[in-house]
Amino acid sequence: MSREPWWQTTVIYQIYPRSFRDTTGNGIGDLPGITEKLEYLTETLGVGAIWISPFYPSPMADFGYDISHYTNVHPMFGTLADFDELLASAHDRKLKVIIDWVPNHSSDQHPWFIESRSSRTNPKRDWYVWHDPKPDGSEPNNWLGSFGGSAWTYDEPTEQYYLHSFLPEQPNLNWRNPEVQEAMFDEVRFWLDRGADGLRVDVAHFVMKDPGFRDNPPVPEDWAEVFKSHGAAYDSQLHIHDKGHADNHLLYRDLRALLDSYSPERYSVGEIHIADWDEWASYYGEELDELHMPYNFMLVHSPWQADEIATRIAALEAAIPPGAWPNYVLGNHDDTRLASRIGRHQARTAAMLLLTLRGTPTIYYGDELAMLEVEIAPEDQLDPWGRNTPGAGRDGCRTPMQWDASANAGFAPAGATPWLPLNEDWRESNVANQLDDPASILNLYRALLAYRKESAPLLLGSYDRLDSPSGSFLYRRSHENATVLVALNFTAEPLTAELPTEGTVVLTTEPGEIAAARPCMVELRPYEGVIIEAT
Ligand code: GLC
Repeated sequence: MSREPWWQTTVIYQIYPRSFRDTTGNGIGDLPGITEKLEYLTETLGVGAIWISPFYPSPMADFGYDISHYTNVHPMFGTLADFDELLASAHDRKLKVIIDWVPNHSSDQHPWFIESRSSRTNPKRDWYVWHDPKPDGSEPNNWLGSFGGSAWTYDEPTEQYYLHSFLPEQPNLNWRNPEVQEAMFDEVRFWLDRGADGLRVDVAHFVMKDPGFRDNPPVPEDWAEVFKSHGAAYDSQLHIHDKGHADNHLLYRDLRALLDSYSPERYSVGEIHIADWDEWASYYGEELDELHMPYNFMLVHSPWQADEIATRIAALEAAIPPGAWPNYVLGNHDDTRLASRIGRHQARTAAMLLLTLRGTPTIYYGDELAMLEVEIAPEDQLDPWGRNTPGAGRDGCRTPMQWDASANAGFAPAGATPWLPLNEDWRESNVANQLDDPASILNLYRALLAYRKESAPLLLGSYDRLDSPSGSFLYRRSHENATVLVALNFTAEPLTAELPTEGTVVLTTEPGEIAAARPCMVELRPYEGVIIEAT
């Protein structure tokens, strides 16, 4: 319908490969499992791109975000040939494939790090961030690891500390060394040459740190709310020196030039957790020459209230540079499941919101079923963050996809033991059952995705908020002569929204209902959302 770049008109679906579909019976999902489910993604659901979390060789200290070989596939996930087959089948279906790129750190088992720590004079010593102790033998500064403890680990044999923004098993690469950039860009080329359509850049803002290694200052008292999911110690600092250095922009300009040297167009989205909108938006680049998009997590961390959400959307629209493209995400493998945060009824309103805003949406696997967070006690958590910081565990949002009512919810063959427990509701709540139920949230997602695909106002239109009763959110999307209004009721009470124009309700979140014309005024049932085509 349009000549816009594919990444602006697509919908991305995030796959956590360990939990999508296990074809071998080891209880862990794999690449052939994704290939098997491509028809679900493109035909049944109707998304246009997938982002696959890491599937590379890894000791799995952080479940794949500790990579020991950047250009291969972990045997538990399959082989490079499996990746090629997945990519070819995806492309046959016009599905784009975005892979995860983790530049900030490798695994401590990566041959580069093994060499680097072998002696102070090894040529790879400077590929990681090594620092002498303070005169009293303590850590070089007060930087902390995001998953708890110091960001420095002492290496006895070579009598220096190495830096790790996350686990000690995830040593930071030294991007101030040009050889590192060269080597890491080669790893990117490997995947782009194979045909990968883009990169999701892990903790993109962490890569460059203060070259002077200054201490982080303590956090101002009124700030503590922002990342309260982190452990208390991590929250006690203002993280201005251990990440987010302005030199990140040089790196992303270079990365963009690399991506732009490919045809067809390759894409990048950065995982950027920065609360300041202007700083966040700076990752688009002054000339829109850095990341295609910094991931926008602001709605993940928002109270689920109409005004709060509308305010964040207004802030995003105001912050992004002219010509830059917005994006929205409501769930991922690091946050509590959407349906558990806001409730299953409101998860339907959330689906309509996500798929009707201006910008590229990302759906986290299973959110289209309103999969719930699985309660996993701190002592049973596999996630290292959850083990270090009770309450911060991420296992609960990473449980196996619920496909059907057969053994292991169709995630893994009968007799296998899934690596994480299934939600206890899997026999009732799964893809197969929801497909049969016209009232299901899966069918709502399908209808929204199908509608969006054909709607120029939703794909390309302007966005503006209109007045509506407290607790509701009304916005207009217009493109050329076509206008769509979206009215969402965030309350448990019925509400009446006055529309600026006549229109026809074409989609409602109300379970299993047929749309009916309702001119001028829209009676919204509790938590109901509607799409109205203006006439
Ligand atoms: C990102 C990933 C997260 C991982 C961390 C360290 O935040 O999304 O899962 O633990 O980076 O690589």
